[in-house]
Amino acid sequence: TKTNTPLATAMLCVVVAAPPSAGAEAEAATGRRSNCTTHCGNISIPYPFGVEPGCYHESGFNLTCNQSYSPPQLFLGDGTVQVLDIDLPNGTVRINSKPLEILYGDNGKVSRRTWRAGGLGYAADGPYFVAGAGRNNLVALGCNVQAILLGEDNTLVSSCYPFCPTTGGYMDTDTCSGIGCCQATILEGRASYGLQVQRVGFVYYRSWVNVLIVESDYLLNSTEYYYNNADTAPAMLTWAINSSICHTNGLSPACRSNHSFCLNYIKDFDQDFLYGYEDGDPVDQRHNCRCAGGYQGNPYISHGCYGNISKKEVPASF
Ligand SMILES: *[C@@H]1O[C@H](CO)[C@@H](O)[C@H](O)[C@H]1NC(C)=O
Ligand SMILES: *[C@@H]1O[C@H](CO)[C@@H](O)[C@H](O)[C@H]1NC(C)=O
Ligand SMILES: *[C@@H]1O[C@H](CO)[C@@H](O)[C@H](O)[C@H]1NC(C)=O
Ligand SMILES: *[C@@H]1O[C@H](CO)[C@@H](O)[C@H](O)[C@H]1NC(C)=O
Ligand SMILES: *[C@@H]1O[C@H](CO)[C@@H](O)[C@H](O)[C@H]1NC(C)=O
Ligand SMILES: *[C@@H]1O[C@H](CO)[C@@H](O)[C@H](O)[C@H]1NC(C)=O
Ligand SMILES: *[C@@H]1O[C@H](CO)[C@@H](O)[C@H](O)[C@H]1NC(C)=O
Ligand SMILES: *[C@@H]1O[C@H](CO)[C@@H](O)[C@H](O)[C@H]1NC(C)=O
Ligand SMILES: *[C@@H]1O[C@H](CO)[C@@H](O)[C@H](O)[C@H]1NC(C)=O
Repeated sequence: TKTNTPLATAMLCVVVAAPPSAGAEAEAATGRRSNCTTHCGNISIPYPFGVEPGCYHESGFNLTCNQSYSPPQLFLGDGTVQVLDIDLPNGTVRINSKPLEILYGDNGKVSRRTWRAGGLGYAADGPYFVAGAGRNNLVALGCNVQAILLGEDNTLVSSCYPFCPTTGGYMDTDTCSGIGCCQATILEGRASYGLQVQRVGFVYYRSWVNVLIVESDYLLNSTEYYYNNADTAPAMLTWAINSSICHTNGLSPACRSNHSFCLNYIKDFDQDFLYGYEDGDPVDQRHNCRCAGGYQGNPYISHGCYGNISKKEVPASF
């Protein structure tokens, strides 16, 4: 936990030395202009996210609010992956997860695809990551095909196999428990996965499979999903700042608020670390910010984290 960080003090000095306009003051406090879009429909857009240039922290945190829908719909970046909500305290973005429809061939023949957390417009290293630690499942809808999610160097991350009995009874359950639909927990949260499908056993009447990543708290009704074309389901992502370093004392320039601290992606994010790294190893600079225990609000803006003392401490820009 930090109190008056050098950064916060420096910024305060600037404000005191040259009393600025209201807009510039908001900019100094939040790092973004005062006229940035703060909502898209009923979804709030907190910094480090933003719509207009100058309103988001760094490349990748730009969002698109498409007003041609009613209510308006929010998208990551250029607008292919829909955002359902942004949860700063938990550091999560909930998206509408679209299935990949993959054809699979003869027994033994393997089909490969790539799955990017933020959509294929994003790099393989972020800034969006599938939330690991069991918060998402791999889901496959199909018949007699194995779906395999692969991590770095083709390590196995998750896998399941929906089967269809020879005697029929295809998709006779709603609960995605194996027949016509399977799911398996994802422990390793990554920005990018390989996805591999291959036929197992006899050929059913169709030779394609729908594969998607779904928030594990979401009860996917496979009958509803498959037959009623309700072909989207929520998935949980996390994000990481990549333009500054999270020091071991918990300080990062991106975490502007007092009573905030930074978490390194590899080591700390919700105990959601990758295997094989030693404690304290400076593997990666990617991190995000949290308010300290007992505080809430927005750690990415000055005075963004507030306690219970007075509601007045809630910054207007949050
Ligand atoms: C927002 O404010 C900036 C100056 O801070 C100005 O240049 C820009 O035109 C404004 N944008 C809108 C949409 O009002
Ligand atoms: C927005 O409103 C819809 C219903 O109109 C609701 O289902 C959804 O949960 C709301 N989202 C947020 C972030 O409040
Ligand atoms: C908004 O959505 C409509 C309908 O899908 C699409 O035609 C349009 O290009 C989108 N606009 C932006 C700015 O993405
Ligand atoms: C907005 O996000 C997209 C990713 O979808 C990226 O390609 C683009 O460069 C970003 N734009 C800016 C100005 O950062
Ligand atoms: C954080 O996530 C947990 C588990 O999904 C949820 O119970 C909690 O309400 C979330 N916290 C906030 C502040 O939304
Ligand atoms: C993160 O930073 C590194 C080094 O500065 C850069 O090579 C990489 O492209 C960045 N990744 C993202 C997702 O911005
Ligand atoms: C799943 O959806 C089907 C079709 O809409 C419905 O008949 C069934 O009751 C649903 N099952 C559950 C468990 O909600
Ligand atoms: C946060 O820091 C500011 C000055 O940087 C100070 O005025 C304020 O009292 C601090 N908040 C708390 C709760 O300590
Ligand atoms: C806020 O209230 C909660 C519960 O009453 C308490 O646990 C927490 O320490 C308080 N935080 C501060 C900063 O006073």
